[in-house]
Amino acid sequence: MSLKRALVGSVLAALVSTVTAAQPHAAKPIAAPMRDLKWGKLNFLHTTDTHGWHAGHLQEPQYSADWGDYVSFAEHMRKKADDRGVDLLLVDTGDRVEGNGLYDASDPKGQYYYDIYREQDVDIICTGNHELYIASTADREHKYTVPNFKSKYIASNLDYIDPKSGVKKPMAQRYRKFQTKNQKLDIVAFGFLFDFTGNANNTVVQPVRETIQEEWFQKAMREETDVFVVIGHVGVQMREFKDIFRAIREQNPSTPILFFGGHVHVRDATSYDSRSFAIASGRYMETIGWMSVDGELRKSEDEAALTFHRRYIDNNLYGLHHHSGLNSETFPTEHGRNVTAMIAKARKELELDYTFGCAPKDYWMTRTPYPSENSIYSLLEEEVLPAVAINPKRADVPRLVIANTGAIRFDIFKGAFTRDTTYIISPFLSVLSYIPDVPYPAAKKVIKLLNSAGKIVADAHLENEFLAIPEQLSIKESIIYDTPESSDLFEAGDLQKPLGGKPIRLVEGYTTRDDIGDDGDDAIHSNINFYTVPNCIQAELSLPPEGEPETVDLVFFDFIQPWVLIALRLSGAQYTKEDVQSYIEGTFTELMAGWIAKNWPAKC
Ligand SMILES: *[C@@H]1O[C@H](CO)[C@@H](O)[C@H](O)[C@H]1NC(C)=O
Ligand SMILES: *[C@@H]1O[C@H](CO)[C@@H](O)[C@H](O)[C@H]1NC(C)=O
Repeated sequence: MSLKRALVGSVLAALVSTVTAAQPHAAKPIAAPMRDLKWGKLNFLHTTDTHGWHAGHLQEPQYSADWGDYVSFAEHMRKKADDRGVDLLLVDTGDRVEGNGLYDASDPKGQYYYDIYREQDVDIICTGNHELYIASTADREHKYTVPNFKSKYIASNLDYIDPKSGVKKPMAQRYRKFQTKNQKLDIVAFGFLFDFTGNANNTVVQPVRETIQEEWFQKAMREETDVFVVIGHVGVQMREFKDIFRAIREQNPSTPILFFGGHVHVRDATSYDSRSFAIASGRYMETIGWMSVDGELRKSEDEAALTFHRRYIDNNLYGLHHHSGLNSETFPTEHGRNVTAMIAKARKELELDYTFGCAPKDYWMTRTPYPSENSIYSLLEEEVLPAVAINPKRADVPRLVIANTGAIRFDIFKGAFTRDTTYIISPFLSVLSYIPDVPYPAAKKVIKLLNSAGKIVADAHLENEFLAIPEQLSIKESIIYDTPESSDLFEAGDLQKPLGGKPIRLVEGYTTRDDIGDDGDDAIHSNINFYTVPNCIQAELSLPPEGEPETVDLVFFDFIQPWVLIALRLSGAQYTKEDVQSYIEGTFTELMAGWIAKNWPAKC
């Protein structure tokens, strides 16, 4: 049977479902040709970088299932594992917070999120950098999530400082040794964070190279075990994982080592050698990663070949029904429905559907070039910043307004721009700061310096790339996740003709190519363009129509202040943080919502 025909068959088989569960207003999933999951002896479901998207993507059919649906899915998959006599473990690798109203819209943040998240029975869980930027976020992680997951929470290189006693202790246990339910396989699991340095002062991140020299680690990696599982808020191509791999492998020539990574927001998989495998499972609840390993896993049978398999499951009910072999009637479990209801209640109480205005069209971060009429950055530069970056006392003063592209985290879709959307596109509490009366010749060079990697890095140990969106980090590692080849499967461009049926338009989505191949995605999509964007954009306001001003106000998002000061210095203008003042009240998110309320139609 040709690949094409196999795909067509599974489309027809799976086209029969209607949908319940997910959030009340979530977009209905759209059928797609599917690739199945392969089960092995040891199987995993993996989430990472969910960033508060536990309600799913209400405007995107491919990712519209919620955390409650994932609870139902895991319940069914555990049952399948039991029936087969194999094992299934759930993993989460951090950055669960910041990026969606469900987490960000309450005061204090996460008022509903911690209780919703804990409903999933995750077997191995660790911390991401977003749990640590703000001291109060780290406090809540320590107060809620760590005890919620008790023995399943691992903090191999992370300490927490108790605010009362000032005592520093591990955020959670350093590693976990346990046995799987059905086969009683011994597992030694670690939970790492990359060498993050931007954390608040109530946590301490130990560089991975130091951690692997620690006595406890040296002992743990000498434990008798069938499998090592290393989870981490670390990209699978990053040095930190490779260092951990080398350390464990040196001591254990043939023990399988499985890695679960995140942080760079991409679907990716690789293998460091023939008995190791690593997967990263995307971002924002778009993806549920699947890894399985088959072959002889016992210590005593350690030379037999292993086979690994990975799948990136689009998080929607169409796919979850497909992989569980269930339908809208049989899929939602009581527990899953309860969690879906908890989320709906939280969204209602947080008024996340409150609409500021109706977006007249889609605005993209990276699906169109910048600048262009559908670029979200062009919208900011040409319309939003000129209208909101106004200090009433200095309204006529010429000014340059610099925003880092990383301050925008998501696309704007045509349709309702809600309270939820404000947190989705800009979860950070960015405010506008400025330095008054900067000589123009120096001020105008800042944007160029911010957009040229390298020079500033050497100067201050700050890496420019953190100004841009995290997705671009992975491009440097040359992961190409938009492949023209995958759409070549279909002769008529994006139109797939099932036998005797109507053509199906492939939905745009991930068409991943990783080190293993280009067959990782569960649903076959037409590919999405990816254009790189600069680190920063700049609006030039109230400049004289001719000639150059002598001085300008240099206005910028507070997050980039350290880079701006360095760039000024390199341009010959000495300023310190004492020279920086607040430019306008309110967060950028609030300013943008105000602009939308004024400029876009109230109703869709
Ligand atoms: C962290 O910084 C805050 C504010 O600067 C300070 O009050 C606090 O004592 C510091 N905590 C530790 C553990 O150093
Ligand atoms: C679901 O919620 C109902 C009503 O609150 C409760 O009685 C029941 O125990 C819950 N079931 C599960 C599996 O969480």
